[in-house]
Amino acid sequence: MQKEFDINSRFQLSDGTSIPVFGMGFYRTGSKEVKNIVKWAYKEGYRLFDTAQIYQNEAAIGEAMSELKVPRGEIYLTTKVWNANQTRTRDSIKESLKKLKVQSVDLILLHWPVKESRLKAWEELIKLRDKGFTKSIGVSNYMIKHLEELKEHGYEMPTVNQVEFSPYLQHKELREYCNKEKIVFEGYSPLTKGKRLNDQRLIAIAKKYNKTPAQILIRWVLQSKAVAIPKTSKQERIKENADVFDFSLNDVDLKEMESWEEGLVTGWDPRSQE
Ligand SMILES: NC(=O)c1ccc[n+]([C@@H]2O[C@H](COP(=O)([O-])OP(=O)(O)OC[C@H]3O[C@@H](n4cnc5c(N)ncnc54)[C@H](OP(=O)(O)O)[C@@H]3O)[C@@H](O)[C@H]2O)c1
Repeated sequence: MQKEFDINSRFQLSDGTSIPVFGMGFYRTGSKEVKNIVKWAYKEGYRLFDTAQIYQNEAAIGEAMSELKVPRGEIYLTTKVWNANQTRTRDSIKESLKKLKVQSVDLILLHWPVKESRLKAWEELIKLRDKGFTKSIGVSNYMIKHLEELKEHGYEMPTVNQVEFSPYLQHKELREYCNKEKIVFEGYSPLTKGKRLNDQRLIAIAKKYNKTPAQILIRWVLQSKAVAIPKTSKQERIKENADVFDFSLNDVDLKEMESWEEGLVTGWDPRSQE
């Protein structure tokens, strides 16, 4: 990978803004842990924080960001509209901004393609973006059919699609589609929620580079041109997970990892969502 690729690198979004290639996930992060994580992560160079209404830690993140006392523009803040809120998107976003203690966020995603409400919610997000509630809007867990639906209805396409992503779940076709449509692919659960960190093939590659299995998985996401948002609440792992910008996986190892596809889904599976 390019030498100039570092923790401050960003991907261009189709709306003219950009998103950091690397950040911290906050799924299942308890509110009490948030303050330290935000502090430690910021110190290690993390500049993207990924939360959601359903994670119930927006208020703690807002508090922690205020205490950091850094200019708002230094942090790329993402939140997501929860399914039940898709029929009250605007009000729910107002609540999110209040909890996060910000005037606007950088990216709002529809968390899940709820059949009955996703189109209206997307229309509402476009309006919210135009009114300045957020710089960018995107979706999460959208498969090609869900993205095509937006197109068929004449809506603008999302800037970002956040989807589970690891060598064990590669979404090749979806990524090609996103690339073609200029939608940045953001990979969640890059560490497979810990489920494959003991894979002997992964351990062997990690040894070769003198890196940990987690670092290899994060690096694989980045070299696949996706945003990586690993989650941890441990200080040493915050450092470890960010230490992935001083090496490159070579073509042989990338090819080897490409063969690990097994359709592993560690959370919800959007592939069967109508
Ligand atoms: N849009 C969506 O639907 C969606 C769904 C899931 C996730 N996400 C986003 O993606 C983020 C990441 O995904 P995730 O939280 O599901 O899973 P993940 O990042 O794949 O894995 C997190 C797990 O790995 C452990 N871990 C972290 N660093 C490690 C290391 N260096 N060595 C060993 N274990 C390590 C963590 O434990 P410790 O905390 O104890 O270190 C935690 O149990 C989420 O936090 C969230 O922001 C989005």
